[in-house]
Amino acid sequence: MTDRFTLDNKLPGDYFEAALAADVRKGLAAPPRSLPPKWFYDARGSELFEQITRLPEYYPTRAEQEILTRRAPEIAALTRARTLVELGSGSSRKTRTLLDALTTAGTLAHYAPLDVSESALREAGQALCRDYPSLRVTATVADFATGLDLPQEAGPRLLAFLGSTIGNLDPAERTSFYAVLRGAMSGDDTLLLGADLVKDPAVLVRAYDDSQGVTAAFNKNLLHVLNRELGADFDPDGFDHKAVWNETEERIEMRLRARAATTVKLPAVDLAVEFTRGEELLTELSGKFRRDALTADLAAAGLTVRQWWTDPAERFALLLVVPA
Ligand code: AVJ
Repeated sequence: MTDRFTLDNKLPGDYFEAALAADVRKGLAAPPRSLPPKWFYDARGSELFEQITRLPEYYPTRAEQEILTRRAPEIAALTRARTLVELGSGSSRKTRTLLDALTTAGTLAHYAPLDVSESALREAGQALCRDYPSLRVTATVADFATGLDLPQEAGPRLLAFLGSTIGNLDPAERTSFYAVLRGAMSGDDTLLLGADLVKDPAVLVRAYDDSQGVTAAFNKNLLHVLNRELGADFDPDGFDHKAVWNETEERIEMRLRARAATTVKLPAVDLAVEFTRGEELLTELSGKFRRDALTADLAAAGLTVRQWWTDPAERFALLLVVPA
């Protein structure tokens, strides 16, 4: 363990129980039932997500990596970032491309990853300290959906929000998140945003319903999390994985559909949930973006798109965004 790595857990000790219980009471008590996607990511869920990023059908990770590889030198030159802050860093795999470019440019001193998964932060942080001998890594376990308190390190800071995680938010949540980001940014900070683009629905559906069933296992892992954390008695095999393209909202919706009528007990929240046969639980939104609308939404929050880069096939966009 190196002294260049610190981890600060900002989540209250009972976070997983308390916040999950609140989300379950809000989302499961009555139809239409839904749960926020952040509960996928226990250790097993994080591992399944890593597997998803390597699936032939799941193009977003590779498309974003292609853009990053090509544009990292420009990102380093344009931002001259001293601190790289990464929201929802996960395994920090793509981050290395940025760290390499910023190290080459000679400006980087500090990497500040933020994630809800302490295990992911520990593993990633320690590996990075080993591979970047002069880098300081200060990891924060936090839920950025409930506010951002960014490390007040010397600027300029580059805030990276990659992987199109922004697509997990519905339009209203997105609007408030852009405002939170804008509020957290100083004049010399830059936001690097990854956004998956609207495309052929068949390609999108395949990306979220792969032939090996990894995404199905990832989706059903949510039920294992509920069983473990809340003493629930979901039968994960009693639910089918669904990935549906919502044409109006331009988003993929992941759902779990009850194969038969069933009553699930969740003792920790004192709830018994009756699913009718075919009833669906919405587990994730994955919004897809168009350039004009995304640029306008950011502008409305006081953010200007300085660069819009895509992969050659225009599947994915990487944006450099600055305060207006
Ligand atoms: C990491 C939230 C962007 O929506 O594509 C992948 C998660 N869910 N397959 C996405 C995910 C199912 C992913 N995000």
